[in-house]
Amino acid sequence: MRHFVSTVDWTRSELQGILDSAHRLRSAPVSRALEGKTIALLFLNPSLRTRTSFETGIFQMGGHAVVLEPGKGAWGIEFKEGAVMDGEEEEHIAEVARVLSRYTDLIGLRAFPLFQDWEVDREDRVLSALTRYAEVPVVNMETIVHPCQELAFMRTIQDHLGAPDGRKLLVTWTWHPRPLNTAVANSGILMGTRFGMQVTLLIPDEAYHLDPYYLETAKRQAKESGGDFSVTTDLEEGYRDADWVYAKSWGALPLYGRPDEEARLREPFRHFIVDEEKMSLTRGAHFSHCLPLRRNVKATDGVMDSPACVAVDEAENRLHVQKALMLELMGGGS
Ligand code: CP
Repeated sequence: MRHFVSTVDWTRSELQGILDSAHRLRSAPVSRALEGKTIALLFLNPSLRTRTSFETGIFQMGGHAVVLEPGKGAWGIEFKEGAVMDGEEEEHIAEVARVLSRYTDLIGLRAFPLFQDWEVDREDRVLSALTRYAEVPVVNMETIVHPCQELAFMRTIQDHLGAPDGRKLLVTWTWHPRPLNTAVANSGILMGTRFGMQVTLLIPDEAYHLDPYYLETAKRQAKESGGDFSVTTDLEEGYRDADWVYAKSWGALPLYGRPDEEARLREPFRHFIVDEEKMSLTRGAHFSHCLPLRRNVKATDGVMDSPACVAVDEAENRLHVQKALMLELMGGGS
């Protein structure tokens, strides 16, 4: 049994197999390939794309999805080992995972960090607790990485650029009213370096460096794939000659859990918005984003409504890549 919790655990060739399968599924979307199969989707946080694309995807292949929102329509779940459960949560992940494994063939989990202590959140303990007890494959629907988004991101790059090797990918920080998860930024540099791209991470200040694990993994993967990985605080250097601009906002890890201080640090960097002037420095780059995106905060209307913007293509690709992934994990191969 294999989980899909991080692309780091899968080889480039395995990931490419899923991307190729997604390409085929786009032109033949409806089948009975997963007839009789059921998936459980545990959402601890809101979603539009992830929920809709998984539900629609399994429906198109003859299966069924059960969406559970612990603490809302389902009992609240305790994830800590050895907890004395005298608080709000009614059941432990040990029973939840084992019971869902008796009913379903795959469990998806979305569990964002708690934004209190990065040393705790960086261990992805909620996801680890689920994989410890699950007896069916587990899919990470975004915790501190977003591997399903990574697949859609790379499918979209390959749709528009062909082979990604050697192409310049800019992963740029943008301003946002509150400190957000680093997951998509971690995932952006992981997937770009895995597929041989020349990846530049653009940050407004050294405080916005990603966690060292992701920086080191990106460096290692770039070396293995023939790509490159660098970090800059220089806007022009970041955008110059880029083939692809990928934008995301995230909170400064040194001020994790201290949002008021972090807001003061972030305030001078509103100009990191993706706009037409910055895009004009690129080599006719495409622009994408995982969505949701606040217009005229992270990117201007002009960029979002330009032919360069392929964020909606990337959102569509969530459907195709997750269908390919479900076939891989539940259907005996894609
Ligand atoms: N990109 C993404 O995961 O979108 P949702 O948060 O709407 O699922």
